[in-house]
Amino acid sequence: MLLFVEGKAMTRRTLKMGLGNWVDGDRFWGREDDLAIFISRITDGAHQSLIAQRRMGKTSLMKETARRLEDQYLCLFVDLQKCSAAPDAVVQFGLAVRPYQSLWKRFRSVFSNAFEGFRDSVDSVNLGEIGISLRADFASQWRQKGDQLLEMLAASETPVLLLVDEAPILVNRILKGSDYQITSQRRQDADLFLSWIRDNAVRHQGKIRMVLSGSIGLEPILRQGRLSATLNNFEPFELQPWDEDTASGCLEALAAEYNLRFEEGVPDEMVKMLGCCIPHHVQMFFRHAHDWCRRHGQSAISRQDVKTIYRNEMLSIRGHAELTHYEERLKLVLGDELLPTALELLTETAVVGSLTSEATGMICAAYEFESSSAAEARRQILDVLEHDGYLEQKRKRYRFVSKLLRDWWKTRHGFGYIRTSKRGA
Ligand SMILES: Nc1ncnc2c1ncn2[C@@H]1O[C@H](COP(=O)(O)OP(=O)(O)OP(=O)(O)O)[C@@H](O)[C@H]1O
Ligand SMILES: [Mg+2]
Repeated sequence: MLLFVEGKAMTRRTLKMGLGNWVDGDRFWGREDDLAIFISRITDGAHQSLIAQRRMGKTSLMKETARRLEDQYLCLFVDLQKCSAAPDAVVQFGLAVRPYQSLWKRFRSVFSNAFEGFRDSVDSVNLGEIGISLRADFASQWRQKGDQLLEMLAASETPVLLLVDEAPILVNRILKGSDYQITSQRRQDADLFLSWIRDNAVRHQGKIRMVLSGSIGLEPILRQGRLSATLNNFEPFELQPWDEDTASGCLEALAAEYNLRFEEGVPDEMVKMLGCCIPHHVQMFFRHAHDWCRRHGQSAISRQDVKTIYRNEMLSIRGHAELTHYEERLKLVLGDELLPTALELLTETAVVGSLTSEATGMICAAYEFESSSAAEARRQILDVLEHDGYLEQKRKRYRFVSKLLRDWWKTRHGFGYIRTSKRGA
């Protein structure tokens, strides 16, 4: 984070902890180069898809961008996490207008049918109730209503920045329903929704900038539904892990904020132990260190303490609770049929340290797949594990990208696991 003191940019030295949810403002650390590129593309009028593995700070980057651009754009943040069909998404797009008085007034007059029941009380009614009424109104003609809504946004004098989070979760639901079966009707519905987004992005280029992101990758889902070409007018923006200096700077700034003293070399040691500086993992490590110090009445942390904290706190049940997100998200993308195979592939990788093609074949051969061939199932699983940042391929073997995730997976699933090389014929 840069502060300007007497006209000179200075690195901020204190930082408040992130509490699991997105961060912005004085809780947002680093990412100045990412923000500069991301914002310059927005200025150029590009639509973007923000991609990164889990907990990398995608939502935070969007929120911080909105904070910095609030004087130049109408920044509408839309979370599609709870939506299950296209009309729900259009409702969320509409409700996002609420903070902007003049736009909200216009919205109410364009969609006056949906507001009839509220009459003058609309300002005191909660958004949930308004959402239900809009949903009923939009049900059958969501595309037409959605077009009207985006038309209205594009007509605004101030350009609009539409930040859409968790779009892949919605596309995944439309495509697979609750039974995780891709039917031709569902594929058609998903295609319709994606085409609606694409068409409006093209139609309002220069007036509306769209950003799509989510905690699961859109690409593997599109590939599963054979919909890959649909969003090729969105420029990918890939958010990388922090570099080591940014991560140890973050740890030092957190320590300064909470009056903790690191002994020589401790932040670098913490960064090395994580192996991959996913911002959420860096923050988690600090929070565990902070809590541990409080419990032990300590105000300084040594290298030895850090090892104990990693082993006893990060990898304990407390650490697991935070990391179970990873399993939930996998289930969401892969469904019940592919999930057990994926879990076993990850366990083999965690226990052995790498995953060979022979091991993959042996594991996949032990499962039965109803909706795809074993080869297709294997391809889909590895596609998701690689794209969503669980595993990376090096010299024909897969390995965990994050050392923490590997250690955690091994502690949680490795006990009693028999590696494929030790199994009988
Ligand atoms: N720039 C940042 N500065 C400080 N902390 C950050 C930053 N980005 C992410 N974090 C940490 O990571 C956590 C998760 O951030 P965020 O929700 O933005 O990630 P995400 O990539 O959207 O996660 P998900 O994959 O679950 O959607 C935050 O609570 C915070 O602790
Ligand atoms: Mg997010």
